[in-house]
Amino acid sequence: MFPGVSEAELVRRAVEARARAYAPYSGFAVGAALLAKDGRVFTGCNVENASYGLTVCAERVALFKAVSEGAREFVALAVACGAGPCAPCGACRQALYEFAPDLLLILADGEGRAWRTARLAELLPHGFGPKDLAR
Ligand code: THU
Repeated sequence: MFPGVSEAELVRRAVEARARAYAPYSGFAVGAALLAKDGRVFTGCNVENASYGLTVCAERVALFKAVSEGAREFVALAVACGAGPCAPCGACRQALYEFAPDLLLILADGEGRAWRTARLAELLPHGFGPKDLAR
């Protein structure tokens, strides 16, 4: 389905990344794996901080790693979290929307089970993006 990477593989990478979460305050570990159009996969985990507010979610860690490595076009994002699948928070939806409004989200639990899928634009209707500044 994707350039050399299946949905199952992407979920597996998110689960693997989740094991590296630094979440001593919430105890809530999240992993993400972002597939770029060129076939590269960028992973991320949540990184918390003693000042709480500086915490960065797994999804944005993966996105910023990707963009800093030159990837700007994305196909799918797998997220592995908690006891059941969870969708990216509002801040992450906005950050992802900048690059990939139509991104396929694959949401799994912490073990990579119980997937469901959604499109980012469904989760962020009427999203604000580069197109709005171009008018
Ligand atoms: N978190 C993520 O990494 N991604 C999400 O989609 C939801 C929340 C993190 C932030 C914080 O470290 C912990 O989960 C609890 O909110």
